[in-house]
Amino acid sequence: MEAYILENNGGIEKLKKVTLTKPGIKPNEVLIKTKAIGINPIDIQVRNSKDILGMITQGNIPQEVILGWDIAGVVEEAGEDVDDFKIGDEVYGLINMPGLGKTYATYVAADASQLMLKPSGLNFTAAGATPMAAMTAWQAVVTLGQIKKGDKVLVHAASGGVGHFAVQIAKYMGAHVIGTGSAKNEHFIRDLGVDEFIDYTAKPFEQQTQEMDVVIDAINSVEHILQSISVIKKGGRLVYLQPHFQSAIEAQLQAAEVFGHGVFVYSSREVLGKISQLISEGYVVPKVTQIFTFDELPQAQAAVETGRATGKVAVSVN
Ligand SMILES: NC(=O)c1ccc[n+]([C@@H]2O[C@H](COP(=O)([O-])OP(=O)(O)OC[C@H]3O[C@@H](n4cnc5c(N)ncnc54)[C@H](OP(=O)(O)O)[C@@H]3O)[C@@H](O)[C@H]2O)c1
Repeated sequence: MEAYILENNGGIEKLKKVTLTKPGIKPNEVLIKTKAIGINPIDIQVRNSKDILGMITQGNIPQEVILGWDIAGVVEEAGEDVDDFKIGDEVYGLINMPGLGKTYATYVAADASQLMLKPSGLNFTAAGATPMAAMTAWQAVVTLGQIKKGDKVLVHAASGGVGHFAVQIAKYMGAHVIGTGSAKNEHFIRDLGVDEFIDYTAKPFEQQTQEMDVVIDAINSVEHILQSISVIKKGGRLVYLQPHFQSAIEAQLQAAEVFGHGVFVYSSREVLGKISQLISEGYVVPKVTQIFTFDELPQAQAAVETGRATGKVAVSVN
C-alpha cells in the first residue's frame, strides 16, 4: 500500500510518501480500502510539534508515524469478532482518537466499534471529511453546550470545519444561532441557516452582540476566548476547543459566573451514529470546498494550515 510517514516534526516536506505492507487486522478490526481522508488542524499541529505528537500518542511515539484520523472507504477484510460489517460495506469514522489513526494510507486497520456505515446519500469525499469536525461540533453543541430550543448561541468561525457543523446542529436543536466570519464567507455562513451573521473583521464581535446563552469558541487565542466570556449572560456556558487554555480563563469564568467546558474529541460510534442520523434526515450537510488527490496530500495540509479554509478540505483516493 501507499502511505505518508512523518519523517520528523516540521513542515509539509516532512510527509514522505512510501510503499508499505498492508496492516494486519486484530479480531475486532476491519481492513478498509481508503476512498477519502479528511484533513483537520490537529493533523498539522501533530506534524509540526513533537510535544503534541508525544501527547496524542501518550508518550509512545512509534518508529513509523502515520498521521490522519478521518476516513471513508470500503471494508476489504473483517476480523473474526466483527459482526457489524462485512466485506464490501461502505464505512466512515474517526479512528483511534486519542492515539494515531494512521488514515494517511491507502489501507487502514480500524477498530470496528469506531465505524458506521456511510450514509447512502453522502459521497465518499464528504463522508471522509466529516467525522472529526462533526463529532467535535456535536460534543460542543449537545454534550457540553446543552443547547436547547430558543437559546441564543454564538458560533465562532462558523465557516470552518467544526463551526459549519456546529451551526447546523444548533439550528437542529432549535437555537437562535449567530455565526461569526469574515465578509467573504457571509454567503456560505448564511446558507448554513444562521439567524444572524457577524463580520468579525468589520468591528469586534463583542461590540456586535451580547447576552448569549452559549458561545462556541473555536479560535486558538486566549484573548479571543476572554472576549467570548464577556458576551455570555450569567449562568450561561462557554464551550472552547482549546482545552489547554483552562487555567488561563478560569478566573474570568468565575467572575462572570459562566460555566466553561473544554472539548476533547474522541472516537465514538455512538456520537458518529447521531451525526449519521442528522445527515440521513437532511438536517446536516457536510460542505467540502477543496478536494486533493492522494499525491497532493501535503498540499491539502497546507490549505488547512492557512487557517482560512472554508468548510472542509478532503483527499480523494482512487
Ligand atoms: N479540542 C478538540 O477536540 C478539537 C477538535 C477539533 C478541532 N479543534 C480545534 O478547533 C479549531 C477549529 O478547527 P476547524 O477544523 O474548524 O478549523 P478550520 O476549518 O481550519 O477553521 C478555519 C476557519 O476559521 C475562520 N476564522 C479564523 N479566525 C477567525 C475569527 N477570528 N473569527 C471568526 N472566524 C475565524 C476562517 O474564516 P476567515 O478566513 O473568514 O477568517 C476559516 O473559515 C482548531 O484550532 C482545531 O485544532 C479542537
